[in-house]
Amino acid sequence: MKPFILFSHATISLLFFVTVFVVITKSIVGLITKRQYSNFDKKTTVFCLIFLYCQFIFGFALYFINKKAELIDPNIINQNNLIRFWEVEHIILMLFAIAIAQIGQVIISNTKKSFTKYKKRLIYFSIVLIIVLSSLFLAKYK
Ligand code: HEM
Repeated sequence: MKPFILFSHATISLLFFVTVFVVITKSIVGLITKRQYSNFDKKTTVFCLIFLYCQFIFGFALYFINKKAELIDPNIINQNNLIRFWEVEHIILMLFAIAIAQIGQVIISNTKKSFTKYKKRLIYFSIVLIIVLSSLFLAKYK
């Protein structure tokens, strides 16, 4: 069971990175060319959120599978700062990223002018990307 969920969690990460890359580059192009905010732009923002919420579900499934394993063998946690990282820091940072993405999406959809929509989208989803990346690469230093 865990290998499937871990594989799904890692795979959806890739889908998220592709989509957030499209969201950020299209926002920069939208600001430079001053073009109209399109349905495609709306959809890619929503897909970014959908992938983050999927990660929330698969992530907590992983968290509870690990917790169950630790109940069976409490020594697991003591052995490894890395496990503690995935179960504490990674999750806290990701919850922040999901909250900022959700708040951003609501604010963007309530904004009228295309130029301002692109500007806000660039700001919010760049912050989300920085938090998600830091929540993955910090693992290297554990
Ligand atoms: C609140 C949401 C999230 C929770 C609760 C969560 C939880 C977890 C847990 C518990 C692990 C450790 C799995 C293990 O090795 O035992 C993990 C690993 C991982 N998470 Fe998350 N995660 C969340 C969001 C995300 C997001 C948004 C991304 C990327 C877009 C992500 C990418 C990863 C990656 C790449 C790993 C390492 C997988 C591997 O070792 O192959 N997670 N996550």
